[in-house]
Amino acid sequence: MKTTIEPFRIKVTEPLQQISHRERIARLKEARYNVFLLDAEDCPIDLLTDSGTGAMSTQQWAAMMLGDESYAGSRSWKRFQHTVQEITDMKHIFPTHQGRAAEDILATVRLRPGDIIPNNSHFDTTRANVEFVGAIALDLLCAEGLDSNLDTPFKGNMDVERLEECIQTYGRERIPFCMITVTNNTGGGQPVSLANIRTVREITARHGIPLIIDACRFAENAYLIQQREEGYKAKSLMEIAQEMFSLADGATMSMKKDGLVNIGGFFVCNDDNLAEDFRNLLILREGFPTYGGLAGRDLEAAAVGLREALEEDYQEYRHATVRYLSTRLDDRNIPYVRPVGGHAVFIDAKQFLPHIPPLHYPGIGLVNALYIEGGVRSVELGSVMFGSFDEEGNERPAPLELVRLAIPRRVYTQSHFDYLIEVLDEVWKKREEIGGYRITYQPKLLRHFTCHFEQRSMN
Ligand code: F0G
Repeated sequence: MKTTIEPFRIKVTEPLQQISHRERIARLKEARYNVFLLDAEDCPIDLLTDSGTGAMSTQQWAAMMLGDESYAGSRSWKRFQHTVQEITDMKHIFPTHQGRAAEDILATVRLRPGDIIPNNSHFDTTRANVEFVGAIALDLLCAEGLDSNLDTPFKGNMDVERLEECIQTYGRERIPFCMITVTNNTGGGQPVSLANIRTVREITARHGIPLIIDACRFAENAYLIQQREEGYKAKSLMEIAQEMFSLADGATMSMKKDGLVNIGGFFVCNDDNLAEDFRNLLILREGFPTYGGLAGRDLEAAAVGLREALEEDYQEYRHATVRYLSTRLDDRNIPYVRPVGGHAVFIDAKQFLPHIPPLHYPGIGLVNALYIEGGVRSVELGSVMFGSFDEEGNERPAPLELVRLAIPRRVYTQSHFDYLIEVLDEVWKKREEIGGYRITYQPKLLRHFTCHFEQRSMN
């Protein structure tokens, strides 16, 4: 059959309400043109994130009833530990309430001001946690990763020559660890090949630098390796994931993605000293090491979800959804990052709205137009999220201006996506009428979440 069907049927439904075009204009104005400040009930197609927004399976809900809420050493912890151990084969396993808690503790126990952390691309919270302790987050994405029109299989790879240079320039002493993000969320959800992880491993190991995987979407990365990398067709997703983790010294993970749960994260590592330092701060910040900020039932749901994410039919369905969207964008010549990644379609706002200069935020222009047109909530990954300021305080744009349509796991059906295509179609037709924005308020850190905008006039 040509059609990939959802490998599940729906047992519980959640109503969606549509508000009118006029109401959407009013809501967006009240939200200071920042879709993070909208009420979720006013966003019928909410593609803000694929994080924590997935639907759990019957197996997960059933497992939750088995939650053992003991403070220490619960049965739920043991089941969770067993699953994470099988996937990562790491010696020390620590649950955290979400991914950024693991990043925060890792950065606090290992980084000093002036340290350098190389990564293919840091996610915003990872960057913020590195920078918060005075260290420098360096993105070393391969050149292909910056060209959104190029259709090559592993655009999330790290530029290994620049990694070597970085180690020569700064010295091993200033690099307490190196990270690699799979898949590379901020660069279009692009996968990293095992060959690249292996080379990064060889380089870092030669210099005695630990390698930490940001593993939020490890299962999607494993699927894309199976599909695209020579020699992996016959391997199971579990085997590929195990090979990925075997090349690392540790990993941070937001289970809100490929853990298929609504909350949860973990940190794993092999080094006893790092584990000791991590454990001490974990107890202070998150809780006892066998629950780390999560309920026993959360650990149960994650233990099941982490395995379900590695099921072939689940990954096939998920990737069929993004392919379905991308072929329809192709039909209309709407510019997006090629090839489509695992968890989202990233529209290229620079090409979609070439008349809006980067510092007038074309991404925000497109995000807001999609909301007004059809109540679709998306997110800007461009100069608002990743722009920076030089020493004189001048704002510098980000290299890419993307709008991410993130796909929550197992939540929307094909007709929701057909509706989304219609909305995109309408906005594409009206693109010349879309204007830029100006920031009127911004906080010091992670400004995109809470900043306020106003519309710029069109002339
Ligand atoms: N690393 C990556 C690659 C991520 O995508 C995220 C979260 C995190 C770390 C932090 O995990 O949210 O559990 O604290 N990404 C979400 C997103 C928020 O929308 O892409 P967290």
